[in-house]
Amino acid sequence: MSAQHRFDVLILGSGAAGLATALALPEHLSVALLSKGPLAAGATSWAQGGIAAVLDGDDHLDNHIQDTLAAGAGLCHPDIVRQVVEGGPGAIEWLAARGVAFDQEQSSDGAPRYHLTQEGGHGHRRIVHAADATGKAVEDSLLAEAQRRPRLTVFEDHLAVDLLIREKLNLPGSGCVGAYVLNTLTEQVETFQATHTVLATGGASKVYLYTSNPDGATGDGIAMGWRGGCRVANMEFNQFHPTCLYHPEAKSFLITEALRGEGGLLRLPSGARFMDRFHPQAELAPRDVVARAIDHEMKRLGADCLYLDVTHLPAERLKHHFPNIFARCLELGIDITKAPIPVVPAAHYTCGGLVTDSRGRTDVPQLYAVGECAFTGLHGANRMASNSLLECIVFAKAAAEDIVRRLEKAPSTETTLPSWDESRVTDSDEDVVISHNWEELRRFMWDYVGIVRTDKRLERAQHRIKMLRREIHEYYAHHRISGDLLELRNLALVAELIIEGALARKESRGLHYNKDYPECSEAPRDTVLSPSPLRLDALASHRWRT
Ligand code: FAD
Ligand code: SIN
Repeated sequence: MSAQHRFDVLILGSGAAGLATALALPEHLSVALLSKGPLAAGATSWAQGGIAAVLDGDDHLDNHIQDTLAAGAGLCHPDIVRQVVEGGPGAIEWLAARGVAFDQEQSSDGAPRYHLTQEGGHGHRRIVHAADATGKAVEDSLLAEAQRRPRLTVFEDHLAVDLLIREKLNLPGSGCVGAYVLNTLTEQVETFQATHTVLATGGASKVYLYTSNPDGATGDGIAMGWRGGCRVANMEFNQFHPTCLYHPEAKSFLITEALRGEGGLLRLPSGARFMDRFHPQAELAPRDVVARAIDHEMKRLGADCLYLDVTHLPAERLKHHFPNIFARCLELGIDITKAPIPVVPAAHYTCGGLVTDSRGRTDVPQLYAVGECAFTGLHGANRMASNSLLECIVFAKAAAEDIVRRLEKAPSTETTLPSWDESRVTDSDEDVVISHNWEELRRFMWDYVGIVRTDKRLERAQHRIKMLRREIHEYYAHHRISGDLLELRNLALVAELIIEGALARKESRGLHYNKDYPECSEAPRDTVLSPSPLRLDALASHRWRT
């Protein structure tokens, strides 16, 4: 019999969202924090630019709110925007108290203050950062503190398969009581029981062929939440970062938007600038506008890439503020102080996700979603740069406070849960099915559901995804599971939700541009998809029932 664990709180994910939730909980609670691979392998460690917060005396919370609403193109939920922006200065203070060493400078009166940069959509310098590796500084500091907590147990190489939902297990009551988890080292499925479960599993940008994200961004939490009965919203808004390095060995290495904040200019292969033709803020226009402009110019000129030019900026400043980008590009033979950087757009951020309220609660009792896997209403149709780490921290605190309140009212109880059933499956015999489908899925999502869409392309993608999902389900139902199979199964489900969201939106807004409906409609509306029982039964059977 495989391992059975029992905790007050189960947190799936060890990025900024998962770690901050764990650390915001009181130390007396027993907490399990899981990551499907190495602890620091999520997107958090890769974040470059920084975290947005109003800290300059000349800036104002209302400015940050207005910029976020403008970038979100009419779809942000204003109450949530206010909640997150107001939580900004406190979030930075909380991180600094945990040892995150943000860059500082001297103010005119000699006192130290945070060095602030600027990014697309922000009308003011308000990005706090740790050089160009802010995410790593956040991840390392929070992990170090988590590892010091006696009642917080960290499980690496533990990949959650599905949530344990009382109704599906025919247990009395309702809601989530934990998860089945594949220990990828022993290849055993373990049972994690918990009074409250938090999905902090990150985004799904790996659904596209080219992405700035780490390999684990496969939308697992969104897929598990949907199978568990949660609604998702605005899945069609996948953000493409305008400037990823174009180099055969670089695998979409991100070139931070903060370089444009410092004065970097986008140029065509001829050397001419072009962004002023697309937006009054030129290089500092919101990200959707810049990505679409680059895509447009690349297609118009048949170019493989365009260029980000920072050669006019002082070399010492570049080396000081962007040491990692400078070093990585130099390794690849590009001295950014002397030559323009070849760039292309790549999938970067999942704006949609599991619908939550202002405390991170999903539709399923005892189940929370925090961070990139959640749809809180903050980002609208286009996330503004450096607002996502901020959202992770603010919502982690809100969810932790809610969990504590609920545990005070109804303390943890124990339930007998069925073990994972492997009696009717065999060892996987044709792993090529997984690698082939993985490749096919990411390619047609890039070609048919990318930066510029049409109904015809979306319908083609929908046709393909339905066939693929059927094939993957067949395979899942008959073979012993592996990490690759689980990720593919999740990615395919998320792809279907993205396509469905995109087909439902009969307008162009923010990150969703459909040539068949180039105008923005007058009544902005979220695309909310519900997992009706019928749909769930069709392709989401759980192993304990098959
Ligand atoms: P992640 O940090 O991605 O963590 C996900 C965690 O979930 C991982 O620990 C993973 O192992 C775990 N997990 C996933 N699936 C499972 C499963 N099935 N079972 C168990 N565990 C699982 N945002 C900003 O605000 N500022 C920036 O400057 C910035 N720069 C960025 C640069 C890059 C290159 C990228 C890719 C993103 C950037 N972002 C930035 C976005 C930001 O980094 C992410 O949105 C944020 O880090 C997401 O945090 P998270 O905790 O939700 O997820
Ligand atoms: C960047 O540094 O350009 C990424 C910032 C973000 O995605 O928020």
